Amino acid sequence: MVQIFEVGPRDGLQNEKLILGLDDKLWLLDALSKTGIQNIEGGAFVRPDRVPQMADSDQVLEKLNPTAADYWFLVPNQKGLERALSKGVKNVAFFTAVSETFNQKNIGMSVDESFAEIQSMMNIAKKENLKTRGYVSTVWGCPFEGRIQSSKAITSIEKMISIGVDQVSIGDTIGVANPNGVQEVLKPLLQNHQGDSKNQIAVHFHDTRGTALANALKALELGVEVFDSSVGGLGGCPFAPGAAGNLATEDLLYLFKEMGVQTGVNYQKLCETGMELSNRMKGKFFTSKALQAFIANCTKNTAWDS
Ligand code: HMG
Ligand code: MG
Repeated sequence: MVQIFEVGPRDGLQNEKLILGLDDKLWLLDALSKTGIQNIEGGAFVRPDRVPQMADSDQVLEKLNPTAADYWFLVPNQKGLERALSKGVKNVAFFTAVSETFNQKNIGMSVDESFAEIQSMMNIAKKENLKTRGYVSTVWGCPFEGRIQSSKAITSIEKMISIGVDQVSIGDTIGVANPNGVQEVLKPLLQNHQGDSKNQIAVHFHDTRGTALANALKALELGVEVFDSSVGGLGGCPFAPGAAGNLATEDLLYLFKEMGVQTGVNYQKLCETGMELSNRMKGKFFTSKALQAFIANCTKNTAWDS
């Protein structure tokens, strides 16, 4: 059994100009939980003027049904963590990057400063009994510094793991990775973290150049068990120029279900959620190929679309 970690309500929406209303966000979080997805990102406690779509994360966290799924919220600094704690957050995601320039543009800190901030937040999170996730971005490439050496990326990921997060999510922020590069980074990491700590490693692929699904398949073959993806294929970081959507959850789930890889997620319910979200976003076109096929075939009940 592998785990799909849904990032659409945060990574998916954060790059969208159209602001989805609070009721629609709450509907989305609930609908995603009903597909069987257990881990769902609900928002981010970042500066509202920098990421307007996340400005209502306080209300989202206050109003969501906390028993429907494990809902996660990004916290960039102690101020963000305080905001999240005041609304009763249970699961928090820290974030930093391998490359200095992206980190500065994203959160206004050097990589070392952000690790120090994450360590301080981790101390608080432990006291508060929170579950923690740590994102490491720009693992294979940075929009400002270009290609990233695997050894440098591995050092940053190991640093995040050593801080003691329950899970580290390894990010191809701008969608430049390929399966060979994925192997180069993941193989040594998985060898170092065998056994019960293996679940610590998740992968987070963006699909800017169409390689996300191939990268996810390589990660699966290498033994990764947690995969980030976004409903419809929405997504991108506003501070990473040219980064397109995340790997679409529908495409990932289609691949897994056809390969017989168990996820506990209902494909039909997921596609229906994607269709309804598109309606609620004024008919926005979603890039997920599996979702497009589902929509085209949805009255025909084909063997593949259920
Ligand atoms: P800053 O301006 O450097 O912070 O922001 P500051 O400490 O200098 O404070 C300046 C003002 O901001 C102060 O207010 C603070 O109170 C306020 P003032 O006194 O002037 O009125 N402030 C805050 N307000 C609300 N929430 C906060 C907060 N912190 C300070 N948490 C900060 C630093 C990180 C907050 C800012 O740069 C920011 O919000 N950046 C946005 C980062 C972001 O959301 N990026 C996208 C998510 S990461 C991603 O997408 C990648 C990922 O998907 C993985 C992958 O794909 O690789 C995860
Ligand atoms: Mg991302």
